[in-house]
This record gives sequence, C-alpha cells and structure tokens, in this order.
Amino acid sequence: ATERTLSIIKPDATRRNLTGKINAKFEEAGLRIIAQKRIHLSKAQAGVFYAVHKDRPFYDELCEFMASEPVVVQVLEGEDAIAKNREVMGATNPSEAAAGTVRAEFALSIGENSVHGSDAPETAAVEIAYYFSGLELVG
Ligand code: CMP
Repeated sequence: ATERTLSIIKPDATRRNLTGKINAKFEEAGLRIIAQKRIHLSKAQAGVFYAVHKDRPFYDELCEFMASEPVVVQVLEGEDAIAKNREVMGATNPSEAAAGTVRAEFALSIGENSVHGSDAPETAAVEIAYYFSGLELVG
C-alpha cells in the first residue's frame, strides 16, 4: 500500500553537506519527498519527539545531539514507504548496516547515525503531525 513516513536528516549529516546525497538515495529507491524543511530543534523539542526513549541511558545525549545543529525533516511517500525507507537507511548501528545504505556510507556512530525513519504506520502518523500540518504535505 502507499504509505507516508517521517524522515530526519540528522545534524552529523547536515553539517557535512550530505542532504542531497541522502535525498538521492531516497529518490532512487522510489520514495517521493512530499514535504521537507530545515529546522533547528531545541533540546526540549527533540526531547518530546524522542519521548519514547526517555528512560534509556542515551536519551540526554540523543537530545543534545539532535539540537546541536540544524536537521532536515521530511515526509517520504511511496509503496511500503516505511519498510523501504528503513531498508535505504540500514541498521541503526552503522557497523551492522548493509553496504550501500545511508548509514553504512555516512553514519559516524550509533548515535550520530545520519538519519531517522519512523518504524510503523502509527508512529509515522504521530511523527509527521509533530513537524508538519496537513497543508504542507504535497503528494
Ligand atoms: P533513531 O532511529 O533516530 O531512534 C533513536 C535513536 O537513538 C537512534 O536512531 C540512535 O541514533 C540513538 N541511539 C540508539 N542507541 C544508542 C546508543 N547506544 N547510544 C547513543 N545513541 C543511541
């Protein structure tokens, strides 16, 4: 089915001018970027977005990192977009990511891993609504 998923190009990638190279991988996989903006999150805003991880030992470091420099938030649309995007991203830990994936090519560490993608339809809907209004989604 056609799905939408929330993607974030993280500070380690925006800092190294990798936005275009990462977007090319999404587009080559058949994912359409139907909304996109560059924003600089506050630590509190990052904290709300990652609230599901609030009891994890890396939560504070994760929020600091996500607020350290601008990110590009985007909505990707396509057939099985959630799974497809996760395939293009590769495993969370870049040392486990398959060759050719975004994280294998660009990620610096498990924390500075270049991209985020929603993990299920329910979370995708919540995550998209956190950053975008319906009017900004141009499918
Ligand atoms: P993401 O898909 O954005 O979802 C949660 C993030 O937490 C994850 O990518 C990683 O960047 C980060 N993360 C997961 N495990 C660790 C860890 N052990 N240390 C630091 N960050 C982590």
